[in-house]
Amino acid sequence: MGNIFAVTNQKGGVGKTTTTVNLAASLAENAKKVLLIDLDPQGNATTGCGVGKATLEKSSYDVLMGEAKAADVIVKRDDFSFDVIPTNADLTAAEIELLDEEQREHRLRLALEPIRVDYDYILIDCPPSLSMLTLNALVASKGVIIPIQCEYYALEGLSSLLKTVERVKQRANPTLEVTGLVRTMFDARNNLANQVSRQLINHFDKKVFHSIIPRNVRLAEAPSHGIPVVSYDRSSRGSIAYMALASEFMRREKS
Ligand SMILES: Nc1ncnc2c1ncn2[C@@H]1O[C@H](COP(=O)(O)OP(=O)(O)OP(=O)(O)O)[C@@H](O)[C@H]1O
Ligand SMILES: [Mg+2]
Repeated sequence: MGNIFAVTNQKGGVGKTTTTVNLAASLAENAKKVLLIDLDPQGNATTGCGVGKATLEKSSYDVLMGEAKAADVIVKRDDFSFDVIPTNADLTAAEIELLDEEQREHRLRLALEPIRVDYDYILIDCPPSLSMLTLNALVASKGVIIPIQCEYYALEGLSSLLKTVERVKQRANPTLEVTGLVRTMFDARNNLANQVSRQLINHFDKKVFHSIIPRNVRLAEAPSHGIPVVSYDRSSRGSIAYMALASEFMRREKS
């Protein structure tokens, strides 16, 4: 589990997928071997990586249900240098089907075991819920990366997420930890954003990444081209911010 990270927050639209795709790409820019796993039936990360959802032969659904080996589901891209386990709406069924399975929260962990050594980092994009899918990601992971949009309700859901992390730690994955909180879509001119940001630092101190992801239109445009922002517009503020986040993440993970 040493190199697997769940990017999660049950609040929707806070920048989980944008962070997973662009952190993966930025780590790959640093010559790291990276695998992105799309564990959200919406398949936004899949699309954002330029993989067609409609034509998938196999997906993260098959990996979770034990119907395919993880190695056989990996899509390798030539145009940018990280690998992807894609998904689509089929994954919705896994939620229910897993309920009848033994070790249902351990499915992903067990499935990733054989390929873990092939990568420096494996990043999992989670759905906006504390579901069986998210539990599978947490049980498989070393760390949790939590994207936060600095708005009024940002802190509300955080305590139930942290409680879930604590529960998984006690019951299934003793070494699980929060790697860091990432402030996303940040607008420094917004007073409330600054206030929430200060609250985050007061509560979570060093767990808050210094690198702040600004609101940047290039980050919103890149997925429609099926590429990460470093490939779309390398000198954009969004790209520079995710490169900085990757450097900070690598430093943290070394110590
Ligand atoms: N820093 C940013 N600047 C501008 N737009 C952004 C930024 N981050 C994310 N977005 C846009 O905001 C929307 C939500 O982002 P994203 O899909 O990454 O959130 P999410 O947490 O994965 O959502 P969901 O909960 O539905 O999975 C997307 O349209 C995305 O392009
Ligand atoms: Mg998403």
